[in-house]
Amino acid sequence: MDFRRAIEKVNKASNILVVSHFDCDGLCSAKILIDSLKRAGKQVKVKIAKEISLELISEIEKINSDLIIFSDLGSGYLSLLPENREIIVLDHHTPEKVQIPQNIEQINPVLENKELCGAGVCYLFSLELDRKNQDLIDFAVVGAIGDNQIEISENKKIKEKAIQLKRLKIEKGLKIFGHVNRLLHESLRNANIFPLNNDSHVVQFLNELKIDLKGKPKSYCDLTKEEKEKLTLEIIKERIRENIENPADIFSDIYILLKQPKLLSDALEFSTILNAFGRLEKFDEVFEMLSGNLNTLERVLAEYRRKIATCLSWATKNLKNFRKTENILFIDAKKNIDSNIIGTIASIFINGITDKKIVVGLAESDNEVKISTRSKEQKIDLDLILSECCKKLGGIGGGHKEAAGGKIEKGKEKEFINIFCEYVGE
Ligand code: C5P
Ligand code: ZN
Repeated sequence: MDFRRAIEKVNKASNILVVSHFDCDGLCSAKILIDSLKRAGKQVKVKIAKEISLELISEIEKINSDLIIFSDLGSGYLSLLPENREIIVLDHHTPEKVQIPQNIEQINPVLENKELCGAGVCYLFSLELDRKNQDLIDFAVVGAIGDNQIEISENKKIKEKAIQLKRLKIEKGLKIFGHVNRLLHESLRNANIFPLNNDSHVVQFLNELKIDLKGKPKSYCDLTKEEKEKLTLEIIKERIRENIENPADIFSDIYILLKQPKLLSDALEFSTILNAFGRLEKFDEVFEMLSGNLNTLERVLAEYRRKIATCLSWATKNLKNFRKTENILFIDAKKNIDSNIIGTIASIFINGITDKKIVVGLAESDNEVKISTRSKEQKIDLDLILSECCKKLGGIGGGHKEAAGGKIEKGKEKEFINIFCEYVGE
């Protein structure tokens, strides 16, 4: 990736607008850009967006700036971006197949057949601005974890660099969620590795191990080394008693950020926290949080968990009513699932709830319908399918091969489902 022309554009500008995506990777991208550009003495404005749309472009056109940097979005919609402004696109979504307009400098690993998350691209760019920006690597790690690609392609190099800089440590630990920010018995109750899923049974199990849950609230990371070992052994024994296959398959890598405050130190939890702020549209609060104000964190995380739990419970209860084909599940949620959350629900379904190879979520938002698709079928290119299907219905869509989104006018859902089936069939 060659950043020279992009850096030249930055050097010529003094007032820069950063437009970034509202998910974890997009927020990490924005954080890296804001900090590195401010350190370079630039005035920086930020606009966080759910997707590129004509409304977004007309809003951006009203904001005074002498350079616009799009991060973690933009590549898929090059022909929609303003023609009369200096633009840099730092993205990893599949680029639209058009001649790149003169005013746009695009840097995208996909053009070199590589994978690197949006925040990874922004991090490499920030290093070109000034090598001192290497402390921002934490956000590149979190962005890659948020986009589920930390062990893939160029992201791995970022991970290794972060370890070398002594900002990241990878430890084997229990395959549970919430090593830092969840009470131990809650993490265990919700974990697939643990046969007990009832609160009082879990508490009793921990009491028998003499792991004290009274006193100070305890999460997995608060346990002593001996307590962790004892817990691990007893979980394996419990799994043997329950005849569970591969009883010792209970470990995963924990990515620990060594220079972040404790609440943000588990990179996987950090990525969930950012998704929570983003998907609940708390855009001002998220940058305050990233600047050290952690007071809002717990409240936002709790609200996000409640929202996901409600949406998930609605979707699982109604699973039998959803339209299905041999390979596709359609979650046509109407107003029952928030359009900001439908992508998360589609991801949860493809990752375990359904055996179908493709999940399509549809959720109403004002006069439009938000579509989120996820696939585990190698032969399917959702970016291509969504961009074509949405375009046919007067909407827009795109993304990645295995995860893409879009928007169409309300009332066109049935038509969309039919066209989508035809494309997948082909
Ligand atoms: O919105 P959702 O989570 O389903 O998006 C899946 C992927 O598709 C994301 O990477 C998102 O940036 C991308 N996307 C896109 N254009 C849209 C909607 C989503 O490129 N209109
Ligand atoms: Zn991304």
